[in-house]
Order: sequence, then structure tokens, then C-alpha cells
Amino acid sequence: MIDSEGSADQYHPIDINILDKNSNLAFNIFSKVQGASEDRYILYASKEPRYRDKVRELLQSSELMEELYIHEEDLVLYFEHATDSLREYIINSTASPEKKMAKVYDLSRDVTHQFFEANSSPEILRGSGQVVELMEKCLDNNELGFHGLTRIMEKDYYTYTHSINVGLYCMTFALKIGMPADEVHELGLGGMLHDVGKSGIPKEIINKKGALTDEEFETIKSHTNNGVEVIRELGCYGEKVIQMVGQHHEKYNGGGYHQGLIGEDISLFARICKLTDVYDALTTRRSYKKSLKAIEALTIMKSKMGNEFDPKLLNSFIRMMGPEG
Ligand SMILES: [Fe+2]
Ligand SMILES: [Fe+2]
Repeated sequence: MIDSEGSADQYHPIDINILDKNSNLAFNIFSKVQGASEDRYILYASKEPRYRDKVRELLQSSELMEELYIHEEDLVLYFEHATDSLREYIINSTASPEKKMAKVYDLSRDVTHQFFEANSSPEILRGSGQVVELMEKCLDNNELGFHGLTRIMEKDYYTYTHSINVGLYCMTFALKIGMPADEVHELGLGGMLHDVGKSGIPKEIINKKGALTDEEFETIKSHTNNGVEVIRELGCYGEKVIQMVGQHHEKYNGGGYHQGLIGEDISLFARICKLTDVYDALTTRRSYKKSLKAIEALTIMKSKMGNEFDPKLLNSFIRMMGPEG
């Protein structure tokens, strides 16, 4: 039995059922043992080639009930491995699109949670493109629709699940209005990443229940420019994604931030992001507000905020969110 190294908070729970049990392990897997003062992590399966057969046997033996963990330095590898396994599953399984999307949602939630809540480096977001590809595969046959998605989505508002929801809404909307595949992909990415700049803002401000002071509001507003910096730094995203991150708080009739752009000077991608961003914020629950039903949210968007959105896009969105979904 080999004891772990480092402190307990460096271990990250993983979903072992997502991994392809026939492939070679790229990282060590640990199990948790409760200690008197602190939990200890014990090597459960080794990545070393000489243990390969034993590890496969172990992982295939039965439905694993035990919680298993990896060290944080292997997170990126784990996400890559999990994405590959999930791709196989999506292509080969006969499960429903909803079930497949639920698994992709869980994996994305894990990635974005790491970034927004566990202070992981933005490098963790590099795999977002592959996650968006998996989402595209699940949306491909168009069976899911907005209402199918809503059943899978987290109903409480967290920045990390909000990001995934916005990405999925953007992609579904783009598919429904007939945008080409490469643009659907960009919209998914931009939606998932639109609030990355919030990772640098203190949680007390993000989660504040009462009204924000002017200073706090300025801090919140900085997330668009900060986000653009983070995304540019990663160097793997195109201009459309950057526009979504930088312009999703612009308003169609002007007066938004940060550039105060008006009408079609705001990128089409950012105008779509703005719609789905507000829609998800209104239809999810926070400690200080209940979630609105689809029809209530759309009514507010049309009657009270109509001038903030591109009217054509808003009308299409309202039509698509209707009962036909
Ligand atoms: Fe935002
Ligand atoms: Fe947002």
C-alpha cells in the first residue's frame, strides 16, 4: 500500500465509469482512507505498464461503488482521457441523446467547476473544444431541443453551470436558425467561456444578495475585458469567441459595456450570447430569487428589456422556446 503525497485538497474525485476500462491508464488512481486528523489517499491503481493487466482486471471486475481520486497534477490528462472515452460511448452506445448529453454535461460541469471554484489554471479550459464537439454530436439529430436540454441542466445558478447552459443554448439556437457547423462550434465555445473573466472576481461580490455599490459593479463589469485577456493568453480561440467574451453585455440600443457598441456593430455571436445569457440567468434559481418559468422569462425579455436585444434574434428565440421547442 502506498501512501499519497501532498495535502488532501490536491485530490480530485473522478467518475470512474466514464473511463474506458480497456485503455491504458495515463494516471494513478487513489482511494480515500479516513485518518484521525486528515483523510489519506492510497494508491488504488497504478499507471505503470507492469500493472496494466492487473489494473484492467480491477477496473472491469464489477460496478465500482468506491469513490476514486486523482492527483490535481493529472487533471488535464484525466479530462482528455474522459473526453476520449465519452466520444466512444456517444458514437457506439444506443442510449438516448438525453442520456448521452447528461454525461457530457457532467464532464463539462467537472471541468468548469475546476476552473471557477477550485482555482485551477485556465489551461484546464484548453479541452473545451473537444467537449463542445461531444455536445455537437449529441445535438446532431435535433431530438433534444430546448426542452430536452432544460431537463438536463442545473437549475441553481452557479457561474460554472451557467457557462455550460449558455453554451448549449447558443448551439441549439444556432442549429435551429440554420447556422453552419463551424459557427455552431464557435458559439458553443464562446457560450461556455463567456464569463471566464469572473474567475478573478471575489466570490463575495459575485454572490452578493443586496444591491451592489458602484465600486462593486465596476468590478463585476471588468469580467468582460478580463475574460478577453484570459482567452487571448490561451491563444487557441478565434475572434468570434473573443467577441462573445468581450461584447456579451453590450445592448442593442446602446448603453451596455464595455465599448458601448450599438446594433449590428455588436458581433452577431455576442448578440446571440446576450440572449441566452439573460435567459439562463432568469430561469435559474439563486439564494435571493426564484427561477422564472420559460414563458415568464421570455415575457420580461420582450416587454422590459426588449431594447437590449437584436429584435429579429429575440423573436426567433421566443418562437423556438415555445411549446414546439
Ligand atoms: Fe457576463
Ligand atoms: Fe453570463
